[in-house]
Amino acid sequence: MFFGMKIFIFVPNENKYINMCGIVGYIGKRQAWPVLVEGLRKLEYRGYDSAGVALVSAPGDMKVYKSVGKVADLERVVAGKDTSASTGIAHTRWATHGEPSTVNSHPHTSMDGRLALVHNGIIENYAILKQKLADKGYVFSSSTDTEVLVQLIDYIQTEGSLDLLTAVQLALKEVIGAYAIAVVDRDNPDVIIAARKSSPLVVGIGDDEYFLASDATPMVEYTNKVIYLSDGEIAVLRSGEQVRIVNLDNVECSHEAQTIAMNIGQLQKGGYPHFMIKEIFDQPECIADCMRGRLNADTCSVVLSAVNEHRERFVSASRFVIVACGTSWHAGLIGKQLIETMCRIPVEVEYASEFRYRNPVISPSDVVIAISQSGETADTLAAIELAHSRGAFVYGICNVVGSSIARATDAGSYIHVGPEIGVASTKAFTGQVAVLLMFALSLAKETGTISSEEYTSTVASLDAIPDKMRQVLKQNDYIAGMSRMFTYARNFIYLGRGYSFPIALEGALKLKEISYIHAEGYPAAEMKHGPIALIDADMPVVVIATRSPLYDKVLSNVQEIKARGGRVVAVVTEGDTVISSLADFSIQVPAVPECLDALVTSIPLQLMAYHIAVCRGLDVDRPRNLAKSVTVE
Ligand code: F6R
Repeated sequence: MFFGMKIFIFVPNENKYINMCGIVGYIGKRQAWPVLVEGLRKLEYRGYDSAGVALVSAPGDMKVYKSVGKVADLERVVAGKDTSASTGIAHTRWATHGEPSTVNSHPHTSMDGRLALVHNGIIENYAILKQKLADKGYVFSSSTDTEVLVQLIDYIQTEGSLDLLTAVQLALKEVIGAYAIAVVDRDNPDVIIAARKSSPLVVGIGDDEYFLASDATPMVEYTNKVIYLSDGEIAVLRSGEQVRIVNLDNVECSHEAQTIAMNIGQLQKGGYPHFMIKEIFDQPECIADCMRGRLNADTCSVVLSAVNEHRERFVSASRFVIVACGTSWHAGLIGKQLIETMCRIPVEVEYASEFRYRNPVISPSDVVIAISQSGETADTLAAIELAHSRGAFVYGICNVVGSSIARATDAGSYIHVGPEIGVASTKAFTGQVAVLLMFALSLAKETGTISSEEYTSTVASLDAIPDKMRQVLKQNDYIAGMSRMFTYARNFIYLGRGYSFPIALEGALKLKEISYIHAEGYPAAEMKHGPIALIDADMPVVVIATRSPLYDKVLSNVQEIKARGGRVVAVVTEGDTVISSLADFSIQVPAVPECLDALVTSIPLQLMAYHIAVCRGLDVDRPRNLAKSVTVE
């Protein structure tokens, strides 16, 4: 068991993530509970594993209800209980610190039960603050960073006999990290204090009432007047009084309320028409979050706690065997090249579904790496069981905290890219590649198989990758226009070599999944061994042809395709003139070291698949016959 459960020990710098927890708050003249529970339901799209609410009905009377599972489970817990209150805060949690459990769910309360707080984000220095508070006699019941914050506010307020706002301001000055919070006081039902830094928080302004939420979806049915809090701002919400917004130094901040015109569906998708395109565009931030606290740009180093904690096991591995399915298997193919190149340890990549049934040769000196976004894929789970039965050590790379695979593995790293809603995997794929890169770099440092210059320059390039991804995304309009030309294509070939071969496979899979166009990925040099027979004007060929030692060989492939009347879409490095001049369409990506190529070249192919599917009028987020978690064989 692993991943923040039994064996996986979260160290503070490992707990980084794009946090998708949901916050809802209400203060006014209505009953708060129906507003809050409806609000939580509207935030369900963000993904969550538990939910909770705190209701303050009168001075000294606060009720806190929590449940693991769905909002409906929380409703079952609350059914028949006293919910009368006009002030309340509620939360859906996507586990990061500690497994999904009632005790780790929000709201968290101060030790005396006076303050309740919900939080979206990360308190990076929570371990230090927790120790300080423990030294003062504070006792903690959860493994969360959030409980530390509420206890800290309580401590500051009680010690200094301060009002709640001042205590929140002083506490937040001690906090390093990201947060959107809402706090209520059992002894004062007339106020909610809310604050944000790096995590979103919106105040909805009603008629003598206020709404609070992670985005505007929970409030659109009550008001279209909202204030988007800026970083470092605190909102003081009192029913019947003008909202007050101040900063941590208590300086007033002026805000004009905005009118929102979007419907709920648009709001949930951040204004994008589909989750898939939102998730494609989220990638620069997701990858930054995946690396935050692990990659230190100042010291040019990467620390993956799994590698630190199990150094001997990894360094002495005779072989790595990667097991995964689908897109995660493609990430595994990139992982193979990264680990073999940087660490000089042999790596095999297996479809989990084949591995589990073919009596593979696995020994206790092997390390099996299981890669899974959902952490629930049945074949990957079975492959882990098999590996364990042969005595192998299993390291997992998952997105969903506390998932079955996270619990079944001996060590692991979360990719921390937030819930992926679109069925076709996009940000989880680049997140998996980013973790594999950090794994290979950390391990290579330990095995001494990477020169310090290469290590330093690769870490620096990885640190800059979110900006490079942003540059690629700027070509969305061009890619959308080009994709229109392929609306009625019936087949596609994708070609790439080296690190680009798995990207060819992944590009083809994306297209198949959502546009239902038949597509095949091949290593470019394999074309002459068969697929070249297919080339004609009706067989578009996507070639990943970035600058690499094999560029000239890929150029020959492009010439062969053009000589047979084929249409070429080339993904090339910025400034390329040779392949670009031959190709019918060329998409430029910024120059990055070859081992980082996948992080930029996968994006145009995701965009292309998306736009072609949209042109074909298909349900991009829920393609036919596919499920987000494949929990059966
Ligand atoms: C493709 C896709 C699937 C998954 C595969 C494994 O876009 O999402 O191919 O990659 O079903 O799923 P996980 O990663 O959850 O084990």
